[in-house]
Amino acid sequence: MSAGDDSPCSDGGTAILRVGELEPGTSRKFVLTCKDQQLECFVVNYRGTLRAYVNKCRHVPMTMDWVENQFFDESGAYLLCPTHGALYEPEGGECVAGPACGKALFAVPLVERGEDVVALCPDAFE
Ligand code: FES
Repeated sequence: MSAGDDSPCSDGGTAILRVGELEPGTSRKFVLTCKDQQLECFVVNYRGTLRAYVNKCRHVPMTMDWVENQFFDESGAYLLCPTHGALYEPEGGECVAGPACGKALFAVPLVERGEDVVALCPDAFE
């Protein structure tokens, strides 16, 4: 077993954070290379739980952070796409209000390996 597998998005994934590094209510962007595509993604700490998604609204495929690295709405309860106001539930990425209702953000699987949080390529991202 290798403790230092930090190769950029091999099958082993990409280390994006240290465990405990991201404070609740905050987010960080990162890039994954999956199937020869560069995917801009983001990870959020929602009430102590990390969730990661492809940074692409399900209404129109635009990035969701008009303001760099700002994904939460003012309440901190939802992820907001400010272009047309879609609100996504942070835990599963489901759109609960706005024009993408019924769709969900493309989830990026996360695993902990030692002190690292590692992102894996999502099954679907288009
Ligand atoms: S592009 Fe996100 S709500 Fe329209």
